[in-house]
Amino acid sequence: MFITFEGTEGSGKTTQIKPLAEFLSLRGYNVLTTREPGGTQIGDQIRAILLQKENTAMEWRTEILLFQASRAQLVEQLIRPHLKSGGVVLCDRYADSTLAYQGYGYQRDLQALREIIHFATRGLKPDLTILLDLDVEDGLSRRARGGNVNRLDAYELEFHRRVRAGYLELARAEPDRWVILDSRQPLDQIQQQIQQVLLARLEKTV
Ligand code: TYD
Repeated sequence: MFITFEGTEGSGKTTQIKPLAEFLSLRGYNVLTTREPGGTQIGDQIRAILLQKENTAMEWRTEILLFQASRAQLVEQLIRPHLKSGGVVLCDRYADSTLAYQGYGYQRDLQALREIIHFATRGLKPDLTILLDLDVEDGLSRRARGGNVNRLDAYELEFHRRVRAGYLELARAEPDRWVILDSRQPLDQIQQQIQQVLLARLEKTV
């Protein structure tokens, strides 16, 4: 089973994945935890290029393709083999991040993005996607560790609002694949909800 975690900055996806992997491993599942961009040696090098602040000259097409290049490597090198061996994959961000950020956030052509994603992943879609949904101001102030959201310019706030709205639209379009959780809840409560959803789905597939 292929499970992805999505959400805007500061939504707490990464914090939830580690205890979840331990929980599933204790129940005997063979769990692979990974993240995007990155997750492989080649992907981590691509990640460094994407996140390097000096790379301000990066063309938006270059950026989209680098995300897909990292994804293609991760899918073929780790995700497909692990799924084939019967394991569970937990991935921190996947193709929906491209649709939410590049598509809804930067307003690039969604259909073109879907085609590039399909090429990069050979059509591999998650069985389940957990959206940790969070109000944009809450998320950005969490990320800034109590810092002042007002420092962020209006464009940045609008961008993150579009990303969040994009996620919600993607989830509404495929309700069987997505589970939306309110990320303002206490961490252990969210963890319990994720565990319940997963156990119910995993038992169904046995
Ligand atoms: P990262 O440091 O992994 O952030 P987070 O903890 O929020 O996951 O940075 C990943 C950034 O890249 C994040 O801002 C989302 C963005 N991103 C895209 O814009 N498109 C994509 O396809 C992916 C995978 C990530």
